[in-house]
Amino acid sequence: LRKIKTSDDDFGLMTYDPAFMNTASCRSAITLIDGDKGILRYRGYAIEDLAEQSSYIEVAYLLLHGELPNEAQLRKWSHEITHHTFVHEFLRKSMEGFRFDAHPMGKLVSMLGALSTFYPEAKKVRDDKTRRQEIVRIIAKMPTLSAWAYRHAVGRPYVYPDNELSYCGNFLNMIFRMAEPRFEPHPVLERALDILFILHADHEQNCSANAARAVGSAETDPYCSLAAASAALYGPLHGGANEAVLHMLKQIGSVGAVPEFITGVKNGSGRLMGFGHRVYKNYDPRAKVIKKLAHEVFEVTGKNPLLEIALELEKIALNDDYFVKRKLYPNVDFYSGMIYQAMGFPVDMFPVLFAIPRASGWLAQWQEMLQDPEQKIARPRQIYTGADLRPYVPMSERA
Ligand code: ACO
Repeated sequence: LRKIKTSDDDFGLMTYDPAFMNTASCRSAITLIDGDKGILRYRGYAIEDLAEQSSYIEVAYLLLHGELPNEAQLRKWSHEITHHTFVHEFLRKSMEGFRFDAHPMGKLVSMLGALSTFYPEAKKVRDDKTRRQEIVRIIAKMPTLSAWAYRHAVGRPYVYPDNELSYCGNFLNMIFRMAEPRFEPHPVLERALDILFILHADHEQNCSANAARAVGSAETDPYCSLAAASAALYGPLHGGANEAVLHMLKQIGSVGAVPEFITGVKNGSGRLMGFGHRVYKNYDPRAKVIKKLAHEVFEVTGKNPLLEIALELEKIALNDDYFVKRKLYPNVDFYSGMIYQAMGFPVDMFPVLFAIPRASGWLAQWQEMLQDPEQKIARPRQIYTGADLRPYVPMSERA
């Protein structure tokens, strides 16, 4: 980590790589993606195995600690998370300052930042004990903040955490409870949400993880670092694609209209949303799990009428030269929106549903960055393209 320069006048060696297409910004032992083979692993475990056999809370532990917990460790971890789910009343009151139609993701970004003012000790990011405490707090409070953002939008009274329930059961109760004592989710739907949380927990150096690392590299506290990560996820190119898939399927309208729509895409009318990925040049392994999950969920909720259109779209695209040649396959967003919609979530909650589990990935990335002795404050160089030195022009002489 030193500047490569032969003299003071030497500009030095520099690489120009906008969007980091070919530049690794860190070394990481958390998540592996092999885009050509369609492989995704957390800490060496295949995503398919984790989705089938783990719970989200177990996966969060794995991402943060490097190993799967044994029974006693999982019990302790779940207990700690469950007992930090409550959020300060002042923060709940601050929600009233938002407009009734404020986007829930905007509220989540703000509340994450605001939480840092309640825990000023969180700035001791180099202290192991403090860091662990804040990690637990954030994972615990994400569902509460998210559910309150939703209840504010629909004008229903806030529901407080119920620590008898599972991580997802508690979240669903805080979202959907209408009457005493509780909202009882169908076990298939509760497990489906847990699986979706596992699939979204981390994805190595994506835009939001990169934001968490870059902001955290200034030793900013984890609440503000995660507010920055959530802000990155809020962008339509990152966390908003599953919403776009639903709009597209609605616009197509029927199975019979699919071939004409595909022809239009090939002729440049727009992109097939939920298809293609910067890294995966094969079927996104998360999409495979989600496709199977969609069928299980629709057994309970009744079929989402958009599913037939989606299946037809996939069938035609996977056999069409245009998509085959460009290695365009369904990505994680192709089926997830349909599941969320069938569960009763409004479309603007989709990025929030992404942010809740991704918090564990952001925190794992943030922690790894702080523990890496080679990481310094993130500070890229630039290629200056502006004017050379010129004489200052007084106001009276300016045109
Ligand atoms: N539909 C039609 N054609 C496409 C699509 C698509 N979804 N994606 C890429 N292509 C075509 C491009 O037009 C281009 O064709 P050309 O070579 O004839 O010009 C070629 O495939 C390569 O496309 P790029 O834009 O270079 O691919 P890139 O890797 O930069 O883009 C991206 C990846 C942004 C995901 C793109 O595939 C896309 O826009 N997909 C639709 C949006 C989407 O589903 N996003 C979610 C991604 S997953 C996530 O973020 C969680």
